[in-house]
Amino acid sequence: MTKRPIITLPDPLLRKPSTPVERVDEELRILIDDMFETMYDAPGIGLAGVQIAVPRRVIVMDASYRSADEEGGEAPKEPIAMINPEIVARGDELRAHEEGCLSIPEFYAEIERPGQITVRYLDAEGKQRERECEGILATVVQHEVDHLDGKLFIDYLSRLKRDRVIKKFVKAAKGEPVA
Ligand code: NI
Repeated sequence: MTKRPIITLPDPLLRKPSTPVERVDEELRILIDDMFETMYDAPGIGLAGVQIAVPRRVIVMDASYRSADEEGGEAPKEPIAMINPEIVARGDELRAHEEGCLSIPEFYAEIERPGQITVRYLDAEGKQRERECEGILATVVQHEVDHLDGKLFIDYLSRLKRDRVIKKFVKAAKGEPVA
């Protein structure tokens, strides 16, 4: 497994829609292994291919990771990889969770999303699966699927707040002092 560099705002690749995976093969499984390695090392609870500059529709997640961290204990890892994920149902009830993103380091905001979703995807063996998600996992899946469409969680903020975040990262990328 190889840790890969994570791209950050304002890299324009983050806005590029990812292309569907046509074949689940060994090369794809290596990519998935590398994505897990990169995500756990960061550390983070979700990562999309495009975040390591591979704009293909693959996401990895482990929603148990954060709770282990918060409780200060060791929770067993629950790695989940989804290929060509598609959210096929969304519950009516909205829930707010604090979100962050490995591509927008050190910025967090409460985002409201459906609290329950159903996602259809291929697993690492190429088998079609469907999973109902709620709580933090529902948020993570929606956040990662957004990445595949070139969407970021800051897009849910007011324009003023979003522009402020983007400006800060543009400045930092230019090496200018960040206020
Ligand atoms: Ni993200």
